Amino acid sequence: MLSLAVLISGRGSNLQAIQKNIESGILRDKARIAVVIASKADAAGLIFAKEHGLSTAVCPSESAALAALAGQPIDLICLAGYMRVLSADFVQKYAGRIINIHPTLLPKYPGLHVHEKVLAAGEKESGCTVHYVDAGVDTGKIIAQSRVPVLPDDTPELLAARVLAAEHILYAQVILQIAKGQSLTG
Ligand code: GRF
Repeated sequence: MLSLAVLISGRGSNLQAIQKNIESGILRDKARIAVVIASKADAAGLIFAKEHGLSTAVCPSESAALAALAGQPIDLICLAGYMRVLSADFVQKYAGRIINIHPTLLPKYPGLHVHEKVLAAGEKESGCTVHYVDAGVDTGKIIAQSRVPVLPDDTPELLAARVLAAEHILYAQVILQIAKGQSLTG
């Protein structure tokens, strides 16, 4: 049973997808969310977390997040829309145990406003990436990707929604593979 910390800053739809897979999907008996850590008190994902009986902590600073993580066994830290870059010290402390989901096919389009950039570049496909977190921005080793088409009349919002649906599937799949003791890329 993999013990997860899920770090969020906002909506928390990836958090919801992970928890729903724990309750009644592919992560059942494979993982549990030990704590949800939000960088902001108004992160909407906190409401879902509380409704589902999850332990939550609001941690505006990295030291507060470290304190919330300390004292409980955490196997894997899942960044899910967490709008903070972790320090090298944090990354080193949990080396190889922090993953993130990003809504492009990395290494293309790290950072923010990615769907606008994908459309402006005339890409024919996009997707999402789950990767290990290092001290850079969206630079860590790629674990798995899922592809979606870019359609002729796409807007950033339409593309974001298509990618997000793929994110919700991919993140749980990667957590399952890690729970089974293997990464998707070996
Ligand atoms: C997702 O698109 C994720 O890839 C990115 O931030 C967004 C978070 O959405 N890192 P949500 O909070 O999980 O709904």
